[in-house]
Amino acid sequence: HFSLRRYSYEDCQATADWLLSQTAVRPLVGIVCGSGLGGLADALKDQVAFNYRDIPNFPQSTVHGHAGRLVFGTLKGRPCVCMQGRFHLYEGYPIQKITMPMRIFKLLGVETVILTNAAGGLNQDYKVGDIMIIKDHLNMPGFAGNNPLAGPNEERFGVRFPCMSDAYDRELQQLALDVGLELGFSDFLREGVYCVLGGPSFETIAECRMLHKLGADAVGMSTVHEVIVARHCGMRVFALSLITNKAVMDYDSEEKANHEEVLQTGKQRAEQLERLVSTIITRLEHN
Ligand code: 6GU
Repeated sequence: HFSLRRYSYEDCQATADWLLSQTAVRPLVGIVCGSGLGGLADALKDQVAFNYRDIPNFPQSTVHGHAGRLVFGTLKGRPCVCMQGRFHLYEGYPIQKITMPMRIFKLLGVETVILTNAAGGLNQDYKVGDIMIIKDHLNMPGFAGNNPLAGPNEERFGVRFPCMSDAYDRELQQLALDVGLELGFSDFLREGVYCVLGGPSFETIAECRMLHKLGADAVGMSTVHEVIVARHCGMRVFALSLITNKAVMDYDSEEKANHEEVLQTGKQRAEQLERLVSTIITRLEHN
């Protein structure tokens, strides 16, 4: 599965058709669960689940904390499809491969994509356990030419030069704030800019300081590539970061970023994050 071959439109169509032949669920919402946040998928009713390895053409997941299942089902009656475990640049996949599931979502009929991730907090006002509504991003791998849309454009999915100034749907951000207020989450709900890096090594202190100066509120290793591909093919996007740790910003700090802390914080806030996402889904207009 380290093949460099790009997925053609026909490959994606074949995968989507196979999935549609295996389940009666016709999802309008596609969800991507971040590290330690896979519980969202478990909340789906009347599940039909597929291990990634059993889905034709699908990439495989390798990270601890990512189950690697595509789960169809309903969330409070709304048909959804959920990636329990996603693909990352640091796993060594070509970037077109890690974003291929977004095109599968599109061909399954998904209109709205909701992505979650675990991220490090750069904004000094942020606390561990905060949930950040992503309002914009910094695509650092993209600056270096590593953009999932690089290569020949597939017009059946979208245009050559897609706009990204409206990547994160403003109405959905407002809806999330409204729902967060209703649920009593205002104290730990934030809005900010997410910066993606390739990983897998965490940032140095100098790198954290630089990213903060550049306007990033949180830093992680996912989501942005999926957002770009989802927007390219015209799906609405909403994304949340769970701040699982504070990025280390000064040389006196004794703190060190580690994956266990990321998963532990995920566990503590996961239930509230799930409630936020499922309530947002019940309020989506296409339902
Ligand atoms: Cl501190 N950095 C990155 N790149 N990803 C993370 C993180 C930090 N915390 C959770 N995910």
